[in-house]
Amino acid sequence: MALLARGATVVGVDRDPSAIEASTERLSRFGERFFAIEGNFGELERLLGERGLLPVDGVLLDLGVSSAQLSAKGRGFSFQVDGPLDMRMGREGPTAAEWIDRASERELADAIFRFGEERFSRQIARELKRARPATTLEAVRAVERAVPRRAWPKGIHVATRTFQALRIAVNRELEALSAALSSLQKVLRKDGVAAIISFHSLEDRMVKEAFRELSGRCRCPPGLPVCACGAIGDFELLTKKALVPSEAEVAENPRARSAKLRAVRRVR
Ligand SMILES: C[S@@+](CC[C@H](N)C(=O)[O-])C[C@H]1O[C@@H](n2cnc3c(N)ncnc32)[C@H](O)[C@@H]1O
Repeated sequence: MALLARGATVVGVDRDPSAIEASTERLSRFGERFFAIEGNFGELERLLGERGLLPVDGVLLDLGVSSAQLSAKGRGFSFQVDGPLDMRMGREGPTAAEWIDRASERELADAIFRFGEERFSRQIARELKRARPATTLEAVRAVERAVPRRAWPKGIHVATRTFQALRIAVNRELEALSAALSSLQKVLRKDGVAAIISFHSLEDRMVKEAFRELSGRCRCPPGLPVCACGAIGDFELLTKKALVPSEAEVAENPRARSAKLRAVRRVR
């Protein structure tokens, strides 16, 4: 919205058809300066290229799940809203219920551990495989049975981490981010800026590493007296450290509390 208000033409890319519909309606007053494309930002180069929109002046990725998705009935993102255990942001791929059914107990445990940083991942995976939940409430009950009551976390619901992990796995979120990061060089014009807001430490680490690489971090083996790889990046880092929201912003919007923003500019 701020970009549009300052005169930019903005192309919104989202894999969720409801986000396409809502943004098209909400931003209709900007006329042809805003339009939305339904698709995966992991395929940004193709999505923009086949419409003759490359290269662009800027890329802004606001990762993860939206408030609208979390509160929507029937989408299965929230452990607080009972409904089918779907969790797909787009129209494709297996639902979370199907994914649980198809994955091995080991795969499930690994995903819950890695994407949810959940230390009871094995017990939860075992219980989910046993329960084969079809609804969010059934999945919540399985997590509650798997985690000993005395170990339930304070401050967050016991199913929070598992739901986050299932969502990331079902939507292959890290794969999409990795593909988007790899496409920046081809998508941005010289002087163009990429800014990424992430909400998960794994995502932030991927963004930080990719931005360092793009801005020419030396790849020599440790111990060489002088740099021999000739590392010169096509990008410059605009954020040495990730920017985080102020206390006031978090008070106004608690879901922003774990947000981190990093940015680079293409200089060559
Ligand atoms: C945090 S929300 C964005 C909220 C938006 N900036 C706003 O202010 O309303 C993240 C959005 O990214 C979308 N999304 C997540 N991963 C995606 C991907 N790989 N490709 C396209 N859209 C994706 C989700 O469907 C969701 O609508």
